[in-house]
Amino acid sequence: MELLVESSVEAGCRLAARVVARQVRAKPEAVLGLATGRTQVLFYRELVRMAREEELDLRRVTSFNLDEYVGLGPEDEGSFHAFMEEHFFGPLGLDRSRVHLPDGCAPDLQAECLAYERRIAAAGGIDLQVLGLGRNGHIGFNEPTGSLGSRTWVKVLSEETLHANAADFGGAAHVPRHALSMGVGTILEARHVLLLAFGAEKAHAVAAMVEGPVTSLCPASALQLHPRVTVVLDEVAAAELQQLGHYRWVEANRLPWQRYE
Ligand code: GLP
Repeated sequence: MELLVESSVEAGCRLAARVVARQVRAKPEAVLGLATGRTQVLFYRELVRMAREEELDLRRVTSFNLDEYVGLGPEDEGSFHAFMEEHFFGPLGLDRSRVHLPDGCAPDLQAECLAYERRIAAAGGIDLQVLGLGRNGHIGFNEPTGSLGSRTWVKVLSEETLHANAADFGGAAHVPRHALSMGVGTILEARHVLLLAFGAEKAHAVAAMVEGPVTSLCPASALQLHPRVTVVLDEVAAAELQQLGHYRWVEANRLPWQRYE
């Protein structure tokens, strides 16, 4: 894994946006995997700024979001679709025929999961998958002990995740208990993975993901098996890493073409 520890959330989001910009400038029709969550808000804001001020053209990309709550549609404020409209699709004026989320209101959820996998494959697979990290080590909505080989599926959310997302719904009791999510196996097929994690509440999951054993107890630890993962952290999220000095050494000694400047 490529570990990049930045001095602040803002600096981390600027760096992560440059990783996306490099991908899109190299391949304007890139397929992006996108994530939602508080972590991503500033990151999307930075991408929108780059599109407006630095001629970053995102209009030809195709996107696939990681997940969506069961029973919520784009018109529901708490849906990930509404989040994406507010923070990314809307401000960029993206062609909505090129953006995809799993349909949490599909009458047959399992058929929708299969269809989502087929849509990703038909687009040529994901070039760059953006991820956040759950406090319990989840990626997408792949909760601890779920299969590390999973494909897009219907998940029961853990109680911990209901509480983590309670603020978006006015209490944990109102958070939908089910979601459609790309599987860990789906995520591992992306050609490049970019994971963002900020804040002290993520420090434990970050250490388990990077330095712990590969285990379904921490689904993000499966990323150790992926050949190209970039992890962007702030100082507090990196605080529990035992090899932090080594990651900083590697970062300081990267070759010019390995840097996101
Ligand atoms: C959510 C999402 C994840 C997200 C994670 C962290 O429930 N399903 O895709 O990365 O939890 O969210 P946040 O950035 O709000 O901490």
